[in-house]
Amino acid sequence: MKIAVFDTHSYDRDALTLANQQFGHELHFFEARLTAQTAGLASGFEVVCPFVNDKLNAETLAQLYQVGVRLIALRAAGYNAIDVPEARRLGMRVVRVPAYSPHAVAEHAFALLLSLVRKTHRAYNRVRDGNFALDGLVGFDLYGKTVGVIGTGRIGQAAIGIARGFGCRVLADDLYPDTALAQAMGFEYVPREVLLAQSDVVSLHLPLTPDSRHLINQDSLHGMKHGAILINTSRGALVDTMALIQALKSGRLGGVGLDVYELEEGVFFQNLSDKPLQDDQLARLLTFPNVLITSHQGFLTREALGNIAQTTLDNVSAYESGKKLENEVS
Ligand code: NAI
Repeated sequence: MKIAVFDTHSYDRDALTLANQQFGHELHFFEARLTAQTAGLASGFEVVCPFVNDKLNAETLAQLYQVGVRLIALRAAGYNAIDVPEARRLGMRVVRVPAYSPHAVAEHAFALLLSLVRKTHRAYNRVRDGNFALDGLVGFDLYGKTVGVIGTGRIGQAAIGIARGFGCRVLADDLYPDTALAQAMGFEYVPREVLLAQSDVVSLHLPLTPDSRHLINQDSLHGMKHGAILINTSRGALVDTMALIQALKSGRLGGVGLDVYELEEGVFFQNLSDKPLQDDQLARLLTFPNVLITSHQGFLTREALGNIAQTTLDNVSAYESGKKLENEVS
């Protein structure tokens, strides 16, 4: 099938082109993000392939429908940027890649955590500048600490496995606690307030939904242990950024690792290094020495990219041959 791939970067092109050798679809790559303004590029395509920050609201969907698009093959797991009920109302189908490498994201969460705990992000710059002093670089052992994991799905479980490997006690919170899993992996489900109050590290691994928006807010930040570290590799709007900045200013938080950010759309995935940063909240976050931000790269491993490409094209082939869409978003 002819597929219009939006928001394409070199790594997407490489992985999709390689995987497509076994599918034979006709791939057209567009660098533009998919929005109402760019939806016209999909004219003549029955399938579009967007990424996480492409905005498929009612306006974009109407334009896509008008130009003939009938399948949205999202090459990501989280589908919060798509108005799925509206797509269904129009008769368009939405498929996604529910799992590609939970380890990629969980390991990135720990990359952020370990840097913050041992301050390697600061040590790296110091040593390159000829400053070999250790003052201000005192960290702490992860061994024996308590890690709170919110969301015990695929990525949450991978994160729990890593935390247990470090010798951490793990507390967890999920809408649907799996006590057999907890017993098998050696962690404990507790109410969210208890998790926040007792954890030295809180890591978010739940999807963004209307219920989970700003789950970390002024109240929950006050409920966290003094000096705790917050890691968010899930979706930016799980955290109220203004409240986070206040908590950082007050010194309550020991560190914050973000792979996602509430207002990342239009900023992350772009090279804006020769332009003034327009987002004052992001600029403020970047001034804290105990904040480490990456640009939504949790998924960016060879293994994950290969799996994403494979499943995305497989989803399209299933649609083309009229098979059941196993990865349909309903
Ligand atoms: P999953 O669907 O396997 O697990 C999510 C878990 O969260 C489920 O157990 C669910 O019951 C729980 N949950 C949902 N709402 C909740 C709530 N309000 N309170 C507590 N628990 C709740 O999803 P998976 O694969 O583990 O992914 C988690 C999230 O990670 C995705 O939704 C996505 O936003 C993010 N992600 C980030 C990536 C990155 O590159 N940084 C890449 C892939 C996913």
